[in-house]
Amino acid sequence: MSTTLSRQHSVYVTRNVPESGIQLLTSAGLKVTQWKHDAAVPREELLTNISQVDALFCLLTDKVDSELLDAAGGSLKVIGTMSVGHDHIDMEECKKRGIRVGFTPDVLTHATAELTVALLLATSRRLMEGVQAAKDGSWGTWKPTWLCGPSLQNSTVGILGFGRIGQQVAKNLGGFDVGKIIYTARTEVASCAQRVEFDELLLQSDFLIICCALTDSTKNLFDKNAFLKMKKSAILVNTSRGPVVNMDDLAEALENKEIAGAGLDVTVPEPIPLDHSLLKLNNCVVLPHIGSATNEARSAMSRLTAENIIAALNNQKMPAEL
Ligand code: DGY
Repeated sequence: MSTTLSRQHSVYVTRNVPESGIQLLTSAGLKVTQWKHDAAVPREELLTNISQVDALFCLLTDKVDSELLDAAGGSLKVIGTMSVGHDHIDMEECKKRGIRVGFTPDVLTHATAELTVALLLATSRRLMEGVQAAKDGSWGTWKPTWLCGPSLQNSTVGILGFGRIGQQVAKNLGGFDVGKIIYTARTEVASCAQRVEFDELLLQSDFLIICCALTDSTKNLFDKNAFLKMKKSAILVNTSRGPVVNMDDLAEALENKEIAGAGLDVTVPEPIPLDHSLLKLNNCVVLPHIGSATNEARSAMSRLTAENIIAALNNQKMPAEL
């Protein structure tokens, strides 16, 4: 890929991101303007700053809609989102305006699948309660029936969404002597896991892991009715997008012991309000959307976002275009 642009183009970067991506942009001759903070750029500031830019380097927290595209104006040619999820981008509107969109698949697959297994184990093996007990003196003595949870061994693991991340989670579970892996997805995938209908996934899973994209058909998929179909001993894990799970229904299901536990890396909204009932439950582990947070993945995501932008500005094939 050529990295030299024919004329100086400009890019607006909406946050502090790993420097490797910024270096690629500047070495390609781009004029980079950046919101150099860890907090999100205020919307008004963003709308003002993107006026007449050629490219936008954004994150999953930046809503890319008609308002933003209007504010950017006719010069905007490409949007690179530093994420694999793209539900924050109005793709139809981008297509209509001829704006190309790049994203960051693959480079975060291992990091996210790793975190998914970590969250599953933290929830099922009650790690947060254990850490708390070690710190606050309630450990007491070794107790045969204390802080027990279900084993992965011989269990049925269900995965909703069997794309890159879902398949990698299944691979990661390879060493746990799981009894069976089942999945629900639009298409059949060649693997040793078995494809089942969504209701079967709910009924059979001891551990149910959500790895699907957020779409109209997955929004609120886990509601009261879904929880009632699940095993009372089931553990739910969500590392995809918060809105796939109805949070109030989940809190109720956990309180009423309709399911045994939940591990969430994603919530609605983010951050989860401090007074949310889910935060008061011992059988719910909430993480602050850190699925892809390895040094390696975040750096690769930053670079791939930059490469997508540079390629599009050169009228070339983008490494990962939506
Ligand atoms: C994504 O990329 O969509 C994740 O949610 C954050 O890395």
